[in-house]
Amino acid sequence: MAQVEREHPADPADGGRWPDRGEALALMQEYVSSLGLRRHMLAVEAALRAYARRFGEDEERWGVVGILHDFDYEIHPTLEHHPQDGAPILRERGYSEELIHAILSHADHLGIARTTPLEKALYAVDEVTGFAGAVALVRPDKAIAGVQPSSFKKKMKDKAFARAVSREEMLHGAEALGVPFDEHIQIVVGAMAGVADELGLAGRQGE
Ligand SMILES: [Fe+2]
Ligand SMILES: [Fe+2]
Repeated sequence: MAQVEREHPADPADGGRWPDRGEALALMQEYVSSLGLRRHMLAVEAALRAYARRFGEDEERWGVVGILHDFDYEIHPTLEHHPQDGAPILRERGYSEELIHAILSHADHLGIARTTPLEKALYAVDEVTGFAGAVALVRPDKAIAGVQPSSFKKKMKDKAFARAVSREEMLHGAEALGVPFDEHIQIVVGAMAGVADELGLAGRQGE
């Protein structure tokens, strides 16, 4: 769906504004020094952009939510503070409540209902990007592009593999988004493959 390039000024719905990609990246990098966490943001951004294109939604806005969703995790690494204490920092900058709500909704412990396609997509891709990256790194070629739904699901059955990632959350997220799980894996992996260099997942040659 062709979309005219446009600025992202104040959102008439709530008086807030949407940062462009450059501003979101600068803010995220100001708060996040870990390469792994920065890469997580970029992976989620890529996956959300892919879903925005698929659903005919605003790719720039969805991407910005991906870049910012864990921006406060280094300063607030516990459930008592992340992501809720990040919200005032975003409000101070005048950001849209739609953006802030989407970020808050990715945290299960806050119990915020995910009602918009953006919120459902963020939740659905958040853990899947990390798991897909882990599956890529145990491949001989270490390339994200080679990760298939079959190998992804095989690793899900291996309880010791990436044990911190909730299998249920991944399955439930895709279901709530309304996308069959295999297709969901393919969309996320395809999106990550498009930015594989930045994610450090291009494969051996890219190391
Ligand atoms: Fe988070
Ligand atoms: Fe995340």
